[in-house]
Amino acid sequence: MKRRVAILISGRGSNMAALIKAAALEDYPAKIALVISNRADAAGLEKAATGGIATVLVESRPFGKDRAAFEAELQRVLDQHGIELICLAGFMRLFTAGFVQRWHGRMLNIHPSLLPSFPGLDPHGQALRAGVKISGATVHFVIPETDAGPILMQGAVAVSDHDTEETLAERVLEVEHRIYPDALRLLAEGGVRLEDGVCKTATGAGSGNFLISPLAG
Ligand code: GAR
Repeated sequence: MKRRVAILISGRGSNMAALIKAAALEDYPAKIALVISNRADAAGLEKAATGGIATVLVESRPFGKDRAAFEAELQRVLDQHGIELICLAGFMRLFTAGFVQRWHGRMLNIHPSLLPSFPGLDPHGQALRAGVKISGATVHFVIPETDAGPILMQGAVAVSDHDTEETLAERVLEVEHRIYPDALRLLAEGGVRLEDGVCKTATGAGSGNFLISPLAG
């Protein structure tokens, strides 16, 4: 049985689109049963609807600072659709510890940096200012702290002296679209376990190739 997944978005929805595309494969162990946006102007909503996915708008703004009331409405919609796993994909709203606890081990987020480096806003600007030579993207389980939690999968890119926030973001986004579907596949087929706040996977590490940046000579 395919696991029923909800993707939560606030904007463009390119990671959402990558997950929807992957889940269209017959052997994929998860079904994107629902896309929820907290913003009416999220471009991803239309993309999802065009792809034949059920969409629901749960606007956060009317709830103001009352996060628990917003989450109660969110939970009602998730229950209504029998959702088992949540993927946050550019969902720009913080959760209460209660909501996070309820979805412990069942809610993923993607962030465009090699966490724990550069959480929060402007990760690419943070990376360029720090002068790192390798950056990337991280899929992790959600905990109450922002952009933190057990890391399920990471992908890396070399950073060049010529990079701007835009060029770096573009290359990292390609990595995001590759790792988010792979990470959800692992979770949905039961290939991961949490041990003392660390995520362990049944499969081995990646290709074994080094990524070295910059190259000397
Ligand atoms: C993605 O780059 C995602 O990693 C980032 O927002 C973007 C959403 O783009 N998320 C965060 O920064 C979380 N802190 P998308 O709507 O095209 O997927």
